[in-house]
Amino acid sequence: MSGAYSRADVDRPMAGRAAYLLLHNTSEIVTPDPEGRTILRYPRGSMVFRDGRVLEIGHVAELSRRHPDARPINANGRLVTPGLVDCHTHMIFAGHRAGEFARRLAGESYAAIAASGGGIRSTVSATMSANPDTLEKSLANRIERWRANGCTTVEVKSGYGLTPSAELRLLELMRGARQRVPVRVHPTALLLHAVPDEYRDRRDVLIDELCDSVLPLVRQRELATAVDVFCESIAFSPDECRRLLVRAKELGFGIKLHADQLTHSGGARLAAELGAMSADHLEMATADDWRALAAAGTVGVLLPGAALTLGQPLPEAATIRDSGARFAIATDFNPGSSPAQSLLECMAIAVRLCRFTAEEALLAITWNAAKALGVEADAGHLNPGAFGDAVAWECEALEELPYWMPAVRPDCVFMRGADLALPTVERRVWP
Ligand code: NIG
Ligand code: FE
Repeated sequence: MSGAYSRADVDRPMAGRAAYLLLHNTSEIVTPDPEGRTILRYPRGSMVFRDGRVLEIGHVAELSRRHPDARPINANGRLVTPGLVDCHTHMIFAGHRAGEFARRLAGESYAAIAASGGGIRSTVSATMSANPDTLEKSLANRIERWRANGCTTVEVKSGYGLTPSAELRLLELMRGARQRVPVRVHPTALLLHAVPDEYRDRRDVLIDELCDSVLPLVRQRELATAVDVFCESIAFSPDECRRLLVRAKELGFGIKLHADQLTHSGGARLAAELGAMSADHLEMATADDWRALAAAGTVGVLLPGAALTLGQPLPEAATIRDSGARFAIATDFNPGSSPAQSLLECMAIAVRLCRFTAEEALLAITWNAAKALGVEADAGHLNPGAFGDAVAWECEALEELPYWMPAVRPDCVFMRGADLALPTVERRVWP
């Protein structure tokens, strides 16, 4: 049975209980500025949430004078940040691929395993034979785990259906799960992931069907806000991806690409050419590719869980800084390349491998990740007017977030200015 909270808690502030709240006694409040350029730090800062949004940040004496009716909440000397944004996950799937993980560690490549019938296709079989109710509930439980780890905005991709009808079915199940949990879920239709067997010799027919009937249907039923593709030698060519993405853009979807993951196959360049919201992976991208993303205003999304699991390189922080591009960090949670269930943990790994500062890393999992989803006006920061989505962490300093491993846990998660009183143990939506 469902728990105490539901989608309604995201859509409207909780009347009476917490609609007007004064959070005080923090060690500091840290947030990207409204343009996402720097991190603003408010030592011992206090913050007022009202009607689901941030009203103001300042000193406790001043704020309590101005807001005598706000309900005080003591942050117990903890660090407060915006709720985290995980802008790239594939969390609707069944089964696991621990066997393939062992094969990879023994030396087989991801591409060779995929060619032998494993890889994405094996998860497609497991997902398609799972009970739809189980898929929906396991997705809801996973989203709850993300919230327990401090994520208040989470992107979820379809992609383990492959055929047009199976992808539509997954998107419908995603809608079901979205309505059960108090997290902002951004659904993405990952429509070119691997070629379904039925279309092996008629790939063009697949793309025609997706362009002519699936995309308009997804739009009409509001099943997704963005469209994604796997642009890669073992998946779809830049020309095939371009066809689908151009149509998606015409229909008003945001567009994203899995780009230059296994080979330097042109995904980042295509993302820049089409003005994509994000180009994700980029393990094999060059400094020129990063500059192209910067010029296009496309966010480059690093996926350390996948890079580490597949033994791929991540870029040096200096390469990204020199390019001027924005970068985000995400989990890429999926059973094949990235069984990574904590965004903060992924950030801690990226900081070590790429040498980011704590402030850059915070931007990468808040404002920049929100920009990769097109929601940076409202989410990913705590400036007045932003969503009252925040986390009080079990630590005091921003610099501790990338430092501890396993990652620091939230002490308290706020959604829409309401304390959802989430304990450090995650709540399961269903037993
Ligand atoms: O983002 N690269 C393509 N898709 C996923 C992996 C999917 C899988 O292996 O099941 C990724 O890494
Ligand atoms: Fe991915």
